[in-house]
Amino acid sequence: MASSMLHGAQNPVLRTRIAPPKKEALISPKSSVSVSRPVSQPRLIQHKEEAFWFYRFLSIVYDHIINPCHWTDDMRDEALEPADLSDRNLVVVDVGGGTGFTTLGIVKFVDAKNVTILDQSPHQLNKAKEKEPLKECRIMQGDAEDLPFETDYADRYVSAGSIEYWPDPQRGIKEAYRVLKLGGKACLIGPVHPTFWLSRFFADVWMLFPKEEEYIEWFEKAGFTDVKLKRIGPKWYRGVRRHGLIMGCSVTGVKPASGDSPLQLGPKAEDISKPVNPFMFLVRFLVGAIAATYYVLVPIYMWFKDQIIPKGQPI
Ligand SMILES: C[S@@+](CC[C@H](N)C(=O)[O-])C[C@H]1O[C@@H](n2cnc3c(N)ncnc32)[C@H](O)[C@@H]1O
Repeated sequence: MASSMLHGAQNPVLRTRIAPPKKEALISPKSSVSVSRPVSQPRLIQHKEEAFWFYRFLSIVYDHIINPCHWTDDMRDEALEPADLSDRNLVVVDVGGGTGFTTLGIVKFVDAKNVTILDQSPHQLNKAKEKEPLKECRIMQGDAEDLPFETDYADRYVSAGSIEYWPDPQRGIKEAYRVLKLGGKACLIGPVHPTFWLSRFFADVWMLFPKEEEYIEWFEKAGFTDVKLKRIGPKWYRGVRRHGLIMGCSVTGVKPASGDSPLQLGPKAEDISKPVNPFMFLVRFLVGAIAATYYVLVPIYMWFKDQIIPKGQPI
């Protein structure tokens, strides 16, 4: 269905703006968009139970390892800029808010008492609770694919670095649409798919690294209008995207009508309380950990290249 939608004069993606960080440009996708990923596909921690256990341990070092390598303060501020946090009284939900790193960027512009941090990991949320600027935020455990907010609740929906774990990303984006008020804006920050073969291999076994066109398709199918994609990345990559990026783009869309999304989906496929096979869980978890290690090494490798290769030259 997706590919037939994307060919021909009415192609919705071709009408959509994809903006690089500095100067804006219209980019046409080279290939058609894949349909949403089936749950059966073996992306190791694109799975709620596995993501839960991954963060049981990663939460201990998350702020010290993930942020300096993949998600720096300046990237966060650049990624949040299209969210248009223009009023301190806006009601904001930060979905998959984890240790509150992105929320720290949000509360610079919005009163903390109006911000809710939601995450499925109590271990990540415990770290957010310790942060002084987030003391007045509401902190909730919950699932991005089934948000505990009423329809037409928030002015802004923000989610950074969480979509890669959602078994059904389209469902999460449909939920973003539902919980926003009329005219509200969603800002979803997430990975981008690599093109270099080894990076692509590790990305594909590990978790969801969507293509830019996929984000746009998910947003448009959910009912969002004015869908835009802004490219982001660590400064020391000098714009290189071939290894993919864990935080590679900020996608925004506006809710044009009140009420639920026009998109109809079947029942939710996966729940954190669903039992998993312990052997398969261990195998998947270990392979996931190896892929995660690769993606800790890539930014270090790029950092060394940036140090060695003269400025102004491609790396
Ligand atoms: C990479 S962290 C990002 C945390 C934070 N947004 C930041 O910017 O640092 C991803 C977070 O998504 C959460 N997560 C994964 N799947 C989720 C789901 N289905 N519902 C809610 N949170 C989820 C994880 O527990 C984790 O805290």
